[in-house]
Amino acid sequence: MARETKFERFQIRQMTGTIGAEITGLDLARDRSPETMADLKRAIHRYHVLAIRDQKMELEDVHQVRAALGPFSGNPVHEPIDGYDDLMILNREPDETGKVIGEDWHMDLAWLAKPPGITMLYGHEVPPVGGDTCFTSLEWAYRSLSPAMKAMIEDFVVVHSGKGVLGQQYGSVKMRADVHKIASFEVEHPLVCTDPVTGERYLFVSSVIDRIKGFTPAETRPIIDYLFKVATRPEFNCRLRWAPGTLGMWLNPCVMHTAINDYPGYRRTMYRSTIEGWTPIAASGKRAAA
Ligand SMILES: [Fe+2]
Repeated sequence: MARETKFERFQIRQMTGTIGAEITGLDLARDRSPETMADLKRAIHRYHVLAIRDQKMELEDVHQVRAALGPFSGNPVHEPIDGYDDLMILNREPDETGKVIGEDWHMDLAWLAKPPGITMLYGHEVPPVGGDTCFTSLEWAYRSLSPAMKAMIEDFVVVHSGKGVLGQQYGSVKMRADVHKIASFEVEHPLVCTDPVTGERYLFVSSVIDRIKGFTPAETRPIIDYLFKVATRPEFNCRLRWAPGTLGMWLNPCVMHTAINDYPGYRRTMYRSTIEGWTPIAASGKRAAA
């Protein structure tokens, strides 16, 4: 499965045979040239998850890298920090208990018409051990299906809904004052999509699927549950171990991710921003909803 590619502006090493790569030899506080950004985008469309090590970034640097990579995606859920509309802080204190944000397999803001294309997460303060993030490749999940299954789901359109998001509250993460509006958000996306850069197909499943268009909820569930099971198989996973100064980036619509809740007693402070993506493109050549 190895398909490592050479890059001139940094060193890259695959994390697994399917997904993820570690990047070293890059200082994004100094080099945000268009050529470097183009190489990072090429890398993220190929490996889907990047762990860019040994960065020294303040909030302003994260903002600048986001701006160099593309427009902000918008975020109708979380309150941005003062002075930046594109940044939020995910913080968990040592004495917090209960679920951590993003604890179940999900895609960020999948229920938007144009979900974020890239999510950036910077490790400002991370536990000495634990607090990793796991990812799974929806491209490899699609490839693994039988020709008959691929043919069956080729034209499926799936309704993703914001209504399940509101029930989740996570410690000190601030929600926007008008967050209740997302309960009525519903969007139709094709189930089998094409990456606009590579042309590769991926299975667009998320944790907020309400139904497959034309199917009853009872008919939908077993199909989506099966695809979810396939999509989270360990051979399609990688595990990002954070270190102080790690900037993680992932190609949000082509992966699902999950935060690991295994670091009680430690503070974890991450800076997050999201970059505009694309309107999902049906692999069958037809867009989902007008
Ligand atoms: Fe997330």
